[in-house]
Amino acid sequence: MNLYVDTADVESIERFTRYGILDGVTTNPSIVADDGRSYREVVTSVDAVVDGPVFAQVLAADVDGMVQEGRAYQEWGERVIVKIPATAAGFEALHRLRAAGIPAGITVVFTVEQAVIAAKADATFVAPYVGRMTDAGEDGVGAIERVQSIYDAYGFDTELLAASIRNPRQATECYAAGVDAVTLAPDVLAAHVSSAETEESTAGFQAAWGDRGSPIE
Ligand code: E4P
Repeated sequence: MNLYVDTADVESIERFTRYGILDGVTTNPSIVADDGRSYREVVTSVDAVVDGPVFAQVLAADVDGMVQEGRAYQEWGERVIVKIPATAAGFEALHRLRAAGIPAGITVVFTVEQAVIAAKADATFVAPYVGRMTDAGEDGVGAIERVQSIYDAYGFDTELLAASIRNPRQATECYAAGVDAVTLAPDVLAAHVSSAETEESTAGFQAAWGDRGSPIE
């Protein structure tokens, strides 16, 4: 399972890298706009600290513009993967970029059918928006489970990347579905590595040890 963090924040990326758990970084235009740097600066700075792919999303709405941006992103780092929204123009741009051998996939996915078409079109990855589907009153995790079973049945190579995960419980449901990858906001990922009960129990062990000094002395 690949674990990505959804951020432009290099400090967060370095923190999770120190845990040895990070397989790459996803970004989107909202994240980069909030960061304040240019998209190129974000991608190159992230690429310098992560040992894995950096996902960068095209902004153009037309096919030629998407292809042009995707090709430009590729020059910013060897491991850049182009994210293309699941629109009619997006699927056409995907085909052109994949035919040119450029790693690219489909994002902003809200239906199982979009995920099937992405796999048929040889997308490198597909990113269903679990949280946004759930926010809209749909069964986001159920969609992930259906996509996973369809991909398994047909042997598609496209990486199923669960995105827009709102909390650790949603993430766990995606793990239980056996997804290929998840991307998590830094706060959701940080919540994976500690719990109030762990802190409390650990404090109890330290209190029990008292002033006995280092255990290796
Ligand atoms: C994935 O690559 C997207 O950037 C991200 O998961 C979107 O999540 P959001 O719904 O929190 O914006």
